Amino acid sequence: MVFDASTRRSEALAVFRKALDRAGVETPALDARVLVMEALGCDATDLALRPEAVLGDAGAERLRRFLARRLAGEPVGRILGEREFWGLAFELSPDTLEPRPDTETVVAAALEALSATAEARILDFGVGSGCILVALLHERPRAWGLGIDRSAGALTVAARNARRHGVRPRAAFAASDWAAAVAGRFDLIVSNPPYIPSADISRLAPEVRDHDPRLALDGGPDGLDAFRAILADARRLLAPAGRLVVEVGDGQAEAVARLARGQGLAVTGVSADLAGRPRAVALSAG
Ligand SMILES: C[S@@+](CC[C@H](N)C(=O)[O-])C[C@H]1O[C@@H](n2cnc3c(N)ncnc32)[C@H](O)[C@@H]1O
Repeated sequence: MVFDASTRRSEALAVFRKALDRAGVETPALDARVLVMEALGCDATDLALRPEAVLGDAGAERLRRFLARRLAGEPVGRILGEREFWGLAFELSPDTLEPRPDTETVVAAALEALSATAEARILDFGVGSGCILVALLHERPRAWGLGIDRSAGALTVAARNARRHGVRPRAAFAASDWAAAVAGRFDLIVSNPPYIPSADISRLAPEVRDHDPRLALDGGPDGLDAFRAILADARRLLAPAGRLVVEVGDGQAEAVARLARGQGLAVTGVSADLAGRPRAVALSAG
């Protein structure tokens, strides 16, 4: 069915949901509601109170485009151009990974290592949209942070997100191949590095494979290349009582702990994500 100017909101919502359901989308009702609200520029209350209102030309056109994009496998966050993380909205671009709820495990583990009142220097390797660093600076008003990425496009978006959430004066962003251009000592180093084995990327869901940047996914032949690079420089960059918290992929926690021990680091904790899988490994300089 094609939406037109005289289609009612309730009808459009039902058609949208059914089309996503038929296409095998995991959360058709939620996706339909979010995209209909965005297309019509209305909130949930307005949608509930005025289900009989018609779409109008502009609304129908936007809804047609949104449905086509979602049916082509584009994630909702990419269509909206932003994604919520740690209760904050983050702008996205084709250069940034879409933040994942699992990554909030890294933020929670990192906050345990950061005093609520003391000053702290934070380093985020592979800052992407800025979600981890900005969430931490938002929670710790006396902390200062440096976000590193190899993607200039991601750094621009991260800086915009820092400004959006009021932490830009306490954040710096720089291009570097991991630690190559980084000096100094940090109280906390965080990273959600690319950790998908190269050969597995073609088998990922199209939402990920076709829309997240490859630079943000590809962890090399065994998925562990970025960990090797980051861990090799950790002792040089950590302050004496500092902590390093890294996100790991499914089944990688043991291998990453082994690599860390090989660099003289000690494992201080492993946190599970909402599904109970080890997701964040915390390390100290030992
Ligand atoms: C999995 S994404 C994480 C993005 C963001 N921190 C998050 O949690 O959503 C990994 C990030 O590492 C960056 N990256 C990949 N290789 C890099 C390298 N050699 N040096 C620095 N950053 C790199 C990518 O551009 C990407 O932004």
